Amino acid sequence: MPLIELIYQSVTDGEMSKQTMQDIINEARQKNPNRNITGCLYYKNRTFLQLLEGEKSEVESLFAKIQKDPRHFNPKIVWQGEIGERSFAKFWMMYFNNENNDLLFDQPEEFNQTTATALFELIRQRL
Ligand SMILES: Cc1cc2nc3c(=O)[nH]c(=O)nc-3n(C[C@H](O)[C@H](O)[C@H](O)COP(=O)(O)O)c2cc1C
Repeated sequence: MPLIELIYQSVTDGEMSKQTMQDIINEARQKNPNRNITGCLYYKNRTFLQLLEGEKSEVESLFAKIQKDPRHFNPKIVWQGEIGERSFAKFWMMYFNNENNDLLFDQPEEFNQTTATALFELIRQRL
């Protein structure tokens, strides 16, 4: 089974409450070990960017669920493809909230493979 990475972008209809955010992270960290999915969830300006990595069928079935989640909207796949190794192997779901601009990054309206990969690389440098 190939190992893949899927990165998508979505929006929220208002600033996320701390509680909702915490619920999402808790759910991810509780469930991802069963699917052997690791990754990173980034949030800023009502925008989520999430990197999911794992076996293709697991990543695709999780993404099908996430897409239907009413806590965010308009999920768009930024990039999806095979990878040789995981970027966030030690994290069932790392969370990076950049509302305070801790990470100096000029967030585009629409991410593409280059900007998304650059952002996750910056986050990885903080690990
Ligand atoms: C932005 C966002 C990211 C999410 N990330 C994950 C995740 O990494 N893993 C996960 O299991 N659920 C995640 N969820 C929750 C799923 O949408 C869904 O609630 C959950 O997978 C339901 O699982 P169940 O149907 O097996 O109970 C996320 C939800 C949102 C809004």
